[in-house]
Amino acid sequence: GSGQAAVSNFKRKPVIVIVVGMAGSGKTTFMHRLVSHTHESNIRGYVMNLDPAVITLPFGANIDIRDTVRYKEVMKQFNLGPNGGILTSLNLFATKFDEVISVIEKRADQLDYVLVDTPGQIEIFTWSASGAIITEAFASTFPTVIAYVVDTPRSASPVTFMSNMLYACSILYKTRLPLVLAFNKIDVAQHQFALEWMEDFETFQAAVNADSSYSSNLAQSLSLVLDEFYKNLRSVGVSAVTGAGMKDFFNAIEASADEYMETY
Ligand code: GTP
Repeated sequence: GSGQAAVSNFKRKPVIVIVVGMAGSGKTTFMHRLVSHTHESNIRGYVMNLDPAVITLPFGANIDIRDTVRYKEVMKQFNLGPNGGILTSLNLFATKFDEVISVIEKRADQLDYVLVDTPGQIEIFTWSASGAIITEAFASTFPTVIAYVVDTPRSASPVTFMSNMLYACSILYKTRLPLVLAFNKIDVAQHQFALEWMEDFETFQAAVNADSSYSSNLAQSLSLVLDEFYKNLRSVGVSAVTGAGMKDFFNAIEASADEYMETY
């Protein structure tokens, strides 16, 4: 029950997969692909939507913030703009999150994964108190993994790549949860370049130097910092459109969940 220490009844399943990504990374399409993949592969998944402002979701959600919080009314009632409305809706939902956790706990024996979609504005989840409360609530009850969706073609320039990785790095250190980088859109651009840059920072520094438009001292230093970060995560190439890489993705989630069970 919820009164007991979480550790005493900590189970290996379900694994919570919190999906985050910059606007345009393809997060929604990727979520849709994950949901279809679970259906096709007889994986027992539960879907949670944490975006109060989304109008139509291309996939069904078992737990939906929109069933509890009326975003439009929150905006009116508190006289807020769109982002304030989303943030306040998330705050309201976070106050009831123990109920959400008990719903999942009751079904734990029938579930392999809970796939969690977050608001399109990434920082509303990653930099808010309610995002932290929700993440904590998950992580103290189930193995929890962050999936960070990367727009691979848009990250081909070394400086853009580095900015994106620094953001992912900040999420890793804020949540202290295992992180999987999902390099999306590999149907358009393979993620091989990213793997090479992550493998060997000198290769990355050479790429920065070749990019003459940029003063590279800072990038050179930061690449050393990121080198440490890369050792603490898993990377897979995926395409939300073609479905490539789904097996690799779930393997990386499984390995991260194992790591979670050993570490936390
Ligand atoms: P939200 O912020 O949650 O609304 O989603 P998003 O903006 O991160 O991603 P969305 O799924 O709306 O995708 C953004 C664009 O990328 C759309 O035009 C998608 O069709 C496209 N896209 C997403 N995944 C892929 C992919 O794997 N391959 C290709 N070629 N395009 C993709």
